[in-house]
Amino acid sequence: MCGIFGYIGDKDAEKVITEGLKRLEYRGYDSWGIAVKKDDKIHIHKKIGEIGDVEEIKQLPGAFVGIGHTRWATHGGVTKNNAHPHFSTDMSFVVAQNGIVENFQELKSMLEEKGFKFETQTDTEVIVRLIELKLRDIKELREAARLAFLDLKGRNTIIILEQNTDHIIAIRNGSPLVAGISADRKEYFLASDILSFAHHTDQVVFMNDYQMVEIKDRKLSLFEVENGNEIEYKIQKVEPGEVNIDKEGHEHFMIKEIIEQQYTIKEATNYTKDELAELVEALKSAKNVYTVGAGTAGYAAGQIAYYLRKIAKLNAVELKSYEMESYKDLIGEGDIMIAISQSGETADTIEALEFTKKNGAKIASIVNMMGSTTTRMSDYKFYSRSGPEICVASTKAFTAQVSWGYLLANAVVDKFEEAKANIAKVSESLQNYFTEELFEQIKSLVDRIKDQEHFFVLGRGMNYYVSLEGALKVKEITYKHFEGFAAGELKHGVIALVDKGTPVFCIVSDDEVKNDMVSAAAEVNARGAFTVGIGDNPKQAFFEDFIEAPQAGDLSPITNVIPFQLISYFLGVVLGNNIDKPRNLAKSVTVK
Ligand code: M6R
Repeated sequence: MCGIFGYIGDKDAEKVITEGLKRLEYRGYDSWGIAVKKDDKIHIHKKIGEIGDVEEIKQLPGAFVGIGHTRWATHGGVTKNNAHPHFSTDMSFVVAQNGIVENFQELKSMLEEKGFKFETQTDTEVIVRLIELKLRDIKELREAARLAFLDLKGRNTIIILEQNTDHIIAIRNGSPLVAGISADRKEYFLASDILSFAHHTDQVVFMNDYQMVEIKDRKLSLFEVENGNEIEYKIQKVEPGEVNIDKEGHEHFMIKEIIEQQYTIKEATNYTKDELAELVEALKSAKNVYTVGAGTAGYAAGQIAYYLRKIAKLNAVELKSYEMESYKDLIGEGDIMIAISQSGETADTIEALEFTKKNGAKIASIVNMMGSTTTRMSDYKFYSRSGPEICVASTKAFTAQVSWGYLLANAVVDKFEEAKANIAKVSESLQNYFTEELFEQIKSLVDRIKDQEHFFVLGRGMNYYVSLEGALKVKEITYKHFEGFAAGELKHGVIALVDKGTPVFCIVSDDEVKNDMVSAAAEVNARGAFTVGIGDNPKQAFFEDFIEAPQAGDLSPITNVIPFQLISYFLGVVLGNNIDKPRNLAKSVTVK
């Protein structure tokens, strides 16, 4: 959600920034803009819609300093005028922002009373005018920006380009910001993630909230926003596997990422018993164990809590990071919160962790993106090591999280080695799973259902979360109404929705609830539903189609979700949808 990019160096700034913004595209955006400094003037180029071919964009060549922004509209419609960066009244600096200024109305009224004029509907312009107000008393832009930032409420990260000198300032709170420095110290990058400049340098400086970075005279300095004091920083090196962005011959990132799961479920559990030991001990002695996440990560949190209950016999409770209100006074010392997140930057989840920490509970996390806020807030940090997940719809991150949760739950009851072997077995079966034959079967099913609008998915026991995640996946890419339910809910109301020809997907594993699941499938079938079975349990006569998943025992949620990911992909392709960047969605939901 919104991307920020800044550059100072010896290359064409417009090109470097455009490339950077393209690598931030996956976060979701509806308009974009670039500002570069040339001939002691700031030049801005803004556009609605997609960025297009980097080579074709030659609006502002010959500049070596600049900033860029991809905007996901919050305040004010999707217009060129509302796109960032935004000029100060005297055109001496520009600002781009990622976040929401929660007290924007209040600040805007105050600024209007002081005579400031507004030309956009954005909350960003409030930041610009606020800096201008501070500059009436303080002549230095860095100090004025710092003081203005202290007046903002909400999670905001801003980047500022100044006209007079080769000077970029950025301040972080809540929304991500990371700096990159080239090995020869000639180039500096500031961005919302390391992926956007990883092709230039592998040396990064991770920033914390309420820190301000300044790049001036080819030097990077870091300051505390609170008092303006300069602080020391560490330059870290990132591994190439963590930043490689390539479709590797596939038409879309989504299908590449689906296929990669054969390996990523193993990578996510590439931990030794000793590396898990501290968390295992903490879980054993915890008063309460919670798991938390949102969206797909929320379903993974549900699945992990299920494993912790079923396998580890811990009374784990799954929470939605955006519905924590009633737990605020219950979570405290002696408790453990396990956070699940691909990006590690989801605002809802970070807010949940903030009060978890404040209340004295410990935080564990499984995150995919290196150096994220969630990881840095955690007492027990784990990476799912799946490589960049570029498609907005999460696939390999989900199965990696589930795989890690399975290993963790088994480690609690001393079945670490057994769990590792089971994961390896499933990984092996998946290596033979993605065949042309399977793809053809799914394409032909897609052809039969593509004109329907409403679909239902039924799961039970360990496949309950798969029904929710499977349905979410198809919704995101196809824009069709897919709804996941616990099969047990059927008779309590849901069956009223089933009519002749209604497509109902039934997830059937060879487990202790299979008979109940088959009965549910039979009941919808008896009411004329078009029933499709998914799972490792042999086809029932009444299924119109059965998509077989590898035998996986307790790891079936991993293998059973994959057919839904493939249905989502092939149906999205047939419908001509934007697969990797579905409408309205952002990869990293950094605002609430
Ligand atoms: O980065 P996170 O895993 O914390 O993101 C959480 C959700 O926003 C994310 O899973 C979202 O639901 C995806 N679009 C699902 O495909």
